[in-house]
Amino acid sequence: MPGTENVKIAPPEGKLGVMIPGIGAVSTTFMAGVEAVKRGLGLPIGSLTQMATIRLGKRTDGRSPYIRDFVPLAGVDQLVFGGWDIFEDTAYEAARKARVLDASLLEQVREPLQAVKPMKAVFEHEYVKKIEGPNVKTMGSKMDKAEALMQDISDFQKANGVARTIMIWCASTEVFHRPGAVHQTMAAFEEGLHKNDPDIAPSQVYAYAALKSGVPFANGAPNLTHDIPALLGLARERNIPICGKDFKTGQTFMKTLLAPGLKSRMLGVHGWFSTNILGNRDGEVLEDPGSFKTKEETKLSVLDQILQPDLYPALYKDLYHAVRINYYPPRGDAKEGWDNIDIFGWLGYPMQIKIDFLCRDSILAAPLVLDLVLFLDLAQRAGMKGIQEWLSFYFKAPMTAPGLYPEHDIFIQLMKLKNTLRWMRGEDLITHLGLEYYD
Ligand SMILES: NC(=O)c1ccc[n+]([C@@H]2O[C@H](COP(=O)([O-])OP(=O)(O)OC[C@H]3O[C@@H](n4cnc5c(N)ncnc54)[C@H](O)[C@@H]3O)[C@@H](O)[C@H]2O)c1
Repeated sequence: MPGTENVKIAPPEGKLGVMIPGIGAVSTTFMAGVEAVKRGLGLPIGSLTQMATIRLGKRTDGRSPYIRDFVPLAGVDQLVFGGWDIFEDTAYEAARKARVLDASLLEQVREPLQAVKPMKAVFEHEYVKKIEGPNVKTMGSKMDKAEALMQDISDFQKANGVARTIMIWCASTEVFHRPGAVHQTMAAFEEGLHKNDPDIAPSQVYAYAALKSGVPFANGAPNLTHDIPALLGLARERNIPICGKDFKTGQTFMKTLLAPGLKSRMLGVHGWFSTNILGNRDGEVLEDPGSFKTKEETKLSVLDQILQPDLYPALYKDLYHAVRINYYPPRGDAKEGWDNIDIFGWLGYPMQIKIDFLCRDSILAAPLVLDLVLFLDLAQRAGMKGIQEWLSFYFKAPMTAPGLYPEHDIFIQLMKLKNTLRWMRGEDLITHLGLEYYD
């Protein structure tokens, strides 16, 4: 019945702590942006929680509140930040070095950014080969490091008087690795932590520490991280919502806009060649073949699922799909992504589409961080646990229940997100059937 909530949602009272592994380009652009928005220095463009409306009821009802007025979200004023990095730079210094935002804007939010001093990171060179830094935890086993992270979380919570906390991974992309025996059960995973099992990545130590502390975890990078049975089980057992992986920003965002359109018109695709140049630290890390492989896997998975070559062999069976990333320092964070798409139409006649997207990676990623933090907190207060598939909208490689293929089409993802919000508040789901207007 419309108006009767399907879930009880606790009110968003008190401060919301945002704890971030990785004080780099994305996270500092996010934090600086939130501080700028708080001071009226800019608009949170790109953020659904701040800018989007949601239609309720029939098209003739004229009910389209802002999402932030429809579901009880924490406000940006309630956010407080903390994090870890292998470098000692405060968020202010890291933002200056990332050169995403103008120095004049950063000056105006200097004070809160300087207060974010990275705690010592859990880091292993084997997992991110291109960088090395001094600010790392060196003592003991991986279990000792997990416990040190839990202590960091609890110290941060006490020092800032936060009511709730979210952790979101904005650190470098780790090298590609598949789930092994140590990832299958909590007993094996904890034994692996004690024994320093090399198959347990640093990001998994953070995710474990977050979940053990009752903190929802989102993964903005493509690393395996919490997408393993042991940690998925822990999230469900502790009633904690989680989501991932890999923010859907530049080129993949474009791909998931365009590919559903081509398929909707039953146009064929022979080839899709995507290449990028970028010059930030992320680009440098991705120069390492192991880290690139992790990224490549998530970037490549998108087209296959959207185009469904098994259902449409005449259109997509022989699709050649390649993705390249080249590190090119002069560009900094201002990435350029080219796509050449060879399509074919009526009777097989070929056509081409070229995209040249001069984007700003962190400018596109920052609003996603904000939305994920606020929505994960909402999910937590609504008692939702485990993988939050309705947040697929934000990811290149959405996590799903085992055996379920991920939904990549951005329009389906958006419908899923909004229908989940409608469902939470007991509003009718919108199917777009619309026959009733013609009765
Ligand atoms: N910008 C985008 O549009 C976008 C899109 C999708 C995914 N991502 C991913 O988001 C992540 C952040 O991107 P960025 O541009 O901010 O990169 P960045 O290199 O500027 O920042 C990452 C930071 O993480 C730190 N770090 C590495 N390992 C760590 C560890 N174990 N613990 C704590 N800190 C650690 C690094 O020192 C660095 O400061 C990357 O993995 C990137 O692939 C970014």
